[in-house]
Amino acid sequence: MTEYVTADAPLTRTGAIRLHRPEDFEGMRRAGRLAAEVLDAVVPHMVPGVTTAEIDDIVHRTVEAAGGIPATLGYRGYTHSSCISINHVVCHGIPGDRVLKDGDIVNVDVTPILDGWHGDSSRMYLIGDVPLKAKRLVEVTYECLMLGIEQAKPGNHLGDIGYAIQKHAEKHRFGVVRDFCGHGLGRLFHDAPEVVHVGRPGTGPELRPGMFFTIEPMINIGKPDVKLLDDGWTAVTRDRSLSAQFEHSIGITEDGCEIFTLSPRGFDKPPYA
Ligand code: MF3
Ligand code: CO
Ligand code: CO
Repeated sequence: MTEYVTADAPLTRTGAIRLHRPEDFEGMRRAGRLAAEVLDAVVPHMVPGVTTAEIDDIVHRTVEAAGGIPATLGYRGYTHSSCISINHVVCHGIPGDRVLKDGDIVNVDVTPILDGWHGDSSRMYLIGDVPLKAKRLVEVTYECLMLGIEQAKPGNHLGDIGYAIQKHAEKHRFGVVRDFCGHGLGRLFHDAPEVVHVGRPGTGPELRPGMFFTIEPMINIGKPDVKLLDDGWTAVTRDRSLSAQFEHSIGITEDGCEIFTLSPRGFDKPPYA
């Protein structure tokens, strides 16, 4: 049975779903806006020849200049400010000396903490000339995220979100990754509930005002299966097919939801020209 708790419940992950107060939305708004600004700030640098370590450095500096801290720094032994996942990397790509090259599709995922609140968001970037099939994957993945968000309203269930995402992806014969989910967040980075990106309508926890969570579908051109590389972080598609992901942090309101991580510049999906 789903348990819901109020904002004054202890700040540990118990499996209960936290219902935040109206004043907590302001904290998430600020953290979410910073996440979006960081993803806007890297746009001019997502070009051939730049290394992923350089992108990570820009993320680090932009977050700290705004008075935030990257949540991933020191998180479970992770030592970078972002995850950067290229082509067949599904998620949790580690920034390093890999150089962006023409035709790459790249996800940058950032989670600044601002005044204790976590803003978690990721977007895809197209490097130079990207083949049509890859561009279609990116477009459909963005549509999956937004169709999921459309279902995020009181009285609906998490299964309605997963169903909308899965239906759209599979209509295009793409595979929905099962091994990673969205998650509750707020003062914690990863909290209940797990937001699975597949499902059946009317199943799973009911959505209530004050729930904060991410939706972050990972969609593959091929099969859903992933494998973890020896570094313990990098997840790749087993069939080496291309993978894409977008992520927003949202809060359930009385009549729908608020997206905390919208781009102030309208750079929510490529092209960002
Ligand atoms: N930002 C990722 C998410 O969407 C989590 C990254 S955790 C890390 O939940 F340690 F891999 F950075
Ligand atoms: Co997330
Ligand atoms: Co993220």
